[in-house]
Amino acid sequence: MVQGAIAPFPGRERANCLLQKHLTGSVVLTQEGFAAKVAQCEHHLRSYCACRGSDAVPASVLELGTGWFPIVPVGLALAGAERVITIDVTSLLDVPRTRRVLELYASALQSGGLTGLGRKLRPERVDALIRAARTGQARDPRALLGPLGVDVRIGDVRSSGLPAGSIDLFVSNNTLEHIAPRVLAQITSEFRRLAAPGAVMDQFVDMSDHYAHFDAAISEFNYMRYSDRMWRVFNNRLQWQNRLRASDYRRIIEQAGFDLVSEERAQGSIEELRRLELAPRFRGYADDDLLVLRCWFTGVAGGSRASAGKGAAELGA
Ligand SMILES: C[S@@+](CC[C@H](N)C(=O)[O-])C[C@H]1O[C@@H](n2cnc3c(N)ncnc32)[C@H](O)[C@@H]1O
Repeated sequence: MVQGAIAPFPGRERANCLLQKHLTGSVVLTQEGFAAKVAQCEHHLRSYCACRGSDAVPASVLELGTGWFPIVPVGLALAGAERVITIDVTSLLDVPRTRRVLELYASALQSGGLTGLGRKLRPERVDALIRAARTGQARDPRALLGPLGVDVRIGDVRSSGLPAGSIDLFVSNNTLEHIAPRVLAQITSEFRRLAAPGAVMDQFVDMSDHYAHFDAAISEFNYMRYSDRMWRVFNNRLQWQNRLRASDYRRIIEQAGFDLVSEERAQGSIEELRRLELAPRFRGYADDDLLVLRCWFTGVAGGSRASAGKGAAELGA
């Protein structure tokens, strides 16, 4: 309700930042939050290697949805990606949050805690990161991230302006669930245009009701109780959720011309799902589809599949 009330006004992003910092705690970067994002970065690198059938590092990466903390793009650049473009239609990065990320990386480097990013981090990137973490006077997050090989862009990825065939790896985390189906179809088509031969996509989608992240009284399936009309009342522009299920994402990705190589799913419990009376629009889905709460979708640009068998790996909820 609070997000819905502030959403129509200018300055909503700043107000939402304060709200999430002080009320839900979701814009505070803890050591655990940092480790979880580094783990997502490691997943992207593993997926790329598995799909390419080698331990190569992607030369060019496009991240959709930078968000508040540039942990994933910095990790990919440290691991050796030549150029990591991270794009967000909203400018959420600032200098203190970016420095916090760099400081956490610097202390993880000192304690030898980044082994999952690869056996050999790029030495000049490590030096640049340590220098940037110590820089006192940066005015712009881009000035801190540029020397690391991270190119921060503000804009809609559908009109990226990047050349066709220029990207080796497409990644996103906790982002696709916030995008309308029609726009998602356009984004994945743009990814296909940008895909270099053998390009890989690795997208982590959280399909749970995000209101359950900070309200213990509701289940992660809760939002499937509501008709589209009712959901429009609860849904809000600042944390808009599309409620798509795994099969919907699969269809969108495949229609854009990517071959899905794997779906790693985390499912909730059938007992919990059965406790809800589903809105009519969800009754046509199989239980197995509705139960998926989180999923990694990994695919390769159509016609360029190098390895890995198609299949769905269950992670357990
Ligand atoms: C939940 S946030 C990103 C979270 C971040 N990746 C993380 O893991 O913390 C999703 C972001 O996607 C961005 N976004 C949505 N549609 C977009 C588009 N068409 N082009 C670029 N960015 C977009 C939003 O502005 C938002 O900041």
